[in-house]
Order: sequence, then structure tokens, then C-alpha cells
Amino acid sequence: MSGLFITLEGPEGAGKSTNREYLAARLREQGIDVLLTREPGGTPLAERVRELLLAPSDEPMASDTELLLVFAARAQHLAQVIVPALDRGAVVLCDRFTDATYAYQGGGRGLDVERIAQLETFVQGSLRPDLTLVFDLPVEVGLSRAAARGRLDRFEQEGRGFFEAVRATYLQRAEAAPARYRILDASQSLEAVQRDLDALLPQLVELQRG
Ligand code: TMP
Repeated sequence: MSGLFITLEGPEGAGKSTNREYLAARLREQGIDVLLTREPGGTPLAERVRELLLAPSDEPMASDTELLLVFAARAQHLAQVIVPALDRGAVVLCDRFTDATYAYQGGGRGLDVERIAQLETFVQGSLRPDLTLVFDLPVEVGLSRAAARGRLDRFEQEGRGFFEAVRATYLQRAEAAPARYRILDASQSLEAVQRDLDALLPQLVELQRG
């Protein structure tokens, strides 16, 4: 594989969707082949799994079911979209990936990290993101931004403790492997976050050409 695999992570309301479009546009300006995608989802089948994961339901979803659905969608996304794009040398910009599983199913739901690591290797082999951008912001800011967007999905209906654990897990993972992560302060204005992304751009272009 000769491409570059960049993932965007962070809690709800961190502005990932806007910023992923911005970053893709900046990279394309440099003549780089960019594939923009997201998880859970990224293929028609994986988007159907996303609907199952996000739709509020009267039947509570067991945490193990949630974990397996997330990895089922990921297996499909990898096979159909991510691996072929990396093979052709593209930059893959993926809105959420397995760090979200550690943060939400591990931190939020309290599932055993070892079990997540086993599934990670089972589904991905040795494939890991080259770089992960963590859009960090205080939980209450993210939750009020998500609430302002309207109807809450199954995850957004979780309480503050869940999201504190999600945030703490992202920050711990970034601290444990600083070479792979960049933390961005998403509580700033959009313009300020985008200035931080601009500052990262030369590194990304160099990594891609590297
Ligand atoms: P979003 O991509 O629109 O933010 O929503 C996706 C939701 O799915 C978000 O609440 C996080 C959750 N999620 C997990 O719980 N585990 C995962 O592995 C992924 C990729 C997402």
C-alpha cells in the first residue's frame, strides 16, 4: 500500500464534518488524490449497519452486538473502499475509525480493551491509520452543539459520564502514542481550527510524498 491513511476523531459536536471537507479541499488543491469517507458507513451495506447502530430502539442493544456491528461495517468498508484507495496511492480521510471503538465501546460502554484489540487485528490485520487528528472539546460544549442540531441518535442520547469517558480515552490514546496523533482544540472558532489545519498541511503533504 502506498497511500496515506488519515482518520478524524472526536466527540459529537466537534465540527469534524465541516473540517474534513476543508482538509480534503486543501489537499486536493495540492493535486493530491483524496478519498473522503466515514465510519460507521462508507459503502451502501456499511451505511445500513450505521442505521442499525444509530437508530434509537425500544430493544436495548447489547454492548457486544454494538461492538461486532461496528467491526462488521469496518470489514466491509476496508474491503470495498479503504484498501483499494490506499493501494492506488490516495490519501484516505476517514471520519472516525477504530479509535472511536476504543473511545465509545471501550471507554463509554466499558468493554474490555483486549477484546477490541483482538477484533482490530482480526479485521484490519496490521493496517492502522498513519495519522489521527483528534478534535477535542469539553463534553458540555459538544453536547449542546449536538442538541442544537435536532433529534439525538442512540449515542447522542447517552449521559455526560459516557462522553467524559469517550473524551478521556481519546486523550489517553493520543498521549500514549504521540507520533500518530495530533490534538486540535475544537472549542475554538471554526476559523481558528482551520488555521491549525493549515499549519498541519505541509506535514501531511510531505507524509504523502514521503
Ligand atoms: P458521527 O460519525 O455522525 O459522529 O456518528 C457516529 C456515531 O457512532 C458516534 O456517536 C460514534 C459512534 N461510533 C462508535 O460508537 N464506534 C465506532 O467504532 C465508530 C466508528 C463510531
